[in-house]
Amino acid sequence: MDYSFQFDSLEGYKEAYKNSVENPEQFWSKVADTFAWHKKWDKTLEWDFKTPKIEWFKGGKLNITENCLDRHLAERGNQPALIWEPNNPTHQTRTYTYKELHREVCRFANVLKNNGVQKGDRICIYMGMVPELAISLLACARLGAIHSVIFGGFSANSILDRLEDAGASFIITCDGAFRGSKVIPLKEIIDDALQTFSSIQKVIVLKHTNSPVSMVENRDIWWGDEMKKLDEKGDHFQAEIMDAEDPLYILYTSGSTGKPKGVVHSVAGYMIFTTYTFVNVFQYKPGQVFFCTADIGWVTGHSYIVYGPLSAGAISLMFEGIPTWPDAGRFWDIVDKYRVNIFYTAPTAIRSLMGFGAKPLEGKDLSSLEVLGTVGEPINIEAWEWYNQFIGKNQCPIVDTWWQTETGGILISNFAGISPSRPCWATLPLPGVQPVLINDQGKEVTEKIDGLFKGNLCMKSPWPSILRTTYGDHERFRLTYFSTYPGLYFSGDGALKDEEGNFRIIGRVDDVLNVSGHRIGTAEVENAINMCEGVVESAVVAYPHDIKGHGIYAFVILNMEKPPGQIAEEKIRDMVAEQIGHFAKPDKIQIVKGLPKTRSGKIMRRILRKIAENEVENLGDTTSLLDPEIVAEIIREKL
Ligand code: PRX
Repeated sequence: MDYSFQFDSLEGYKEAYKNSVENPEQFWSKVADTFAWHKKWDKTLEWDFKTPKIEWFKGGKLNITENCLDRHLAERGNQPALIWEPNNPTHQTRTYTYKELHREVCRFANVLKNNGVQKGDRICIYMGMVPELAISLLACARLGAIHSVIFGGFSANSILDRLEDAGASFIITCDGAFRGSKVIPLKEIIDDALQTFSSIQKVIVLKHTNSPVSMVENRDIWWGDEMKKLDEKGDHFQAEIMDAEDPLYILYTSGSTGKPKGVVHSVAGYMIFTTYTFVNVFQYKPGQVFFCTADIGWVTGHSYIVYGPLSAGAISLMFEGIPTWPDAGRFWDIVDKYRVNIFYTAPTAIRSLMGFGAKPLEGKDLSSLEVLGTVGEPINIEAWEWYNQFIGKNQCPIVDTWWQTETGGILISNFAGISPSRPCWATLPLPGVQPVLINDQGKEVTEKIDGLFKGNLCMKSPWPSILRTTYGDHERFRLTYFSTYPGLYFSGDGALKDEEGNFRIIGRVDDVLNVSGHRIGTAEVENAINMCEGVVESAVVAYPHDIKGHGIYAFVILNMEKPPGQIAEEKIRDMVAEQIGHFAKPDKIQIVKGLPKTRSGKIMRRILRKIAENEVENLGDTTSLLDPEIVAEIIREKL
């Protein structure tokens, strides 16, 4: 495996950064040269953020799975590629070498093909964290089908929205998923979603929990049966030769509006940047065991369980369960059992485990750990210090990696052992990444406050794995990311920057919540609440939550013609669970008589946010409110 693009010192990083900015085409061409291509690209980069149009390695031909699998067979065919730890620690673990994973992916690609899947088809994947999930992604990619993974916590309604938007024609699912002590009836939820959606040709069902399921004739087929039908020839599958800019996958994510958008990533740029960032941020060395605790239902699992590590020929560990089952020592058991070298998780997990103290760590040998990482939300100092002291034993660099579903890979981070870990600071931009802080007037921030620049985090130029569009709606792509500050990609985050160019991420400045690392739009939750009978209107804001990062605070107006008691809070929560998923249920629901609105009828969320945060002394200007008295009343009745 050619890691010639791995820098190994701060000077090496600085040089790479300089080259990447001065001559991005030359820089990324050199990186791209280390991958397997059927045909090299004609043009490294063409872009404008106005149209917007972004094309990397145009004219290049490749298949990402040949990079993730085939190219490793000669050198490390018998090395583990994927290690799987089941939810229940007493159940059988599984390890796939690169050879075995290659075989399984080819076999399942044949199953897909035999069932009519073609290049460009959209395949919805709704599974638990089983190895077959990773195999499904790769089989789709081998065949050129576009996968769209839906996190196992989403409800039937959310699935339906995504199926419709993607125009999906196939589904891959499981009978059920194990999550701690629970079994999630995935197939049943899919059946619900399909009640009003008839464009699905086939539902392929993996038997995993042995939960009873109903199978619809001519539509639903068993994974196992289909695999059994293959003979030895099924072990091979000629990878579809893809254009560099062909879409690889769609992943739905929340924004400021009620409707999630389908973020589209394309093959070559995504592959190159996830590999590049994996190898450099974590300073991965061949043979190390890399454990990313994310769910493949979110982007972190796509980029740093599947594509990045496998393309780099790494050993990727995948865990089916949750950190607190059967007890809060589970992650550390896994680290001990597999001698994990690099551990990558979310601050919310650290905070929740911190609450259990040091007891769950007793008797666990964590001495294999060399690098720790965090992702998904700002980490607070207490959690950082606990992670550093109790897990890293003050010996492991902690990389704080900032990125987004849209960015495909890590954009800002420190580099393990190369640049310093600084609590709560993501620090430096990756090579090829040009962040800039912009004020509300759209100008670059040049004045410091208390020694730091503060502004909205934007990017001046494209990196290889930037999203290419929002599925089926390019105008929405333009409006969401490129219209707030023309000529720039706007991340939706606020950030601080010091004199040396280190970044600290503050969090979202738009109406997006980050609940336990799950990204949820306030409008999505409001839409769900408003569907409850008797609800007139609602407004949802975030408030600081010790474990989840953000808690969801809903202010709800009820129809007073009906006695309020008829609408229990539980009904509101159930409706949110039904419309979105359990993870989006409001933590606090305050029934109010009115909401603070401007004279033009706009809800003043700024005020509600302050109330939810308990900062009622500091509400700012309320003179433009239609009815200032309502604010006093909400405060009086605050939960
Ligand atoms: O607010 C930022 C936060 O997570 C958002 C992106 O969420 P999502 O698309 O679900 O992707 C999460 C995993 C990449 C960002 O806009 N975020 C992500 N990483 C960090 C972070 N906030 C602070 N520090 C981070 N390291």
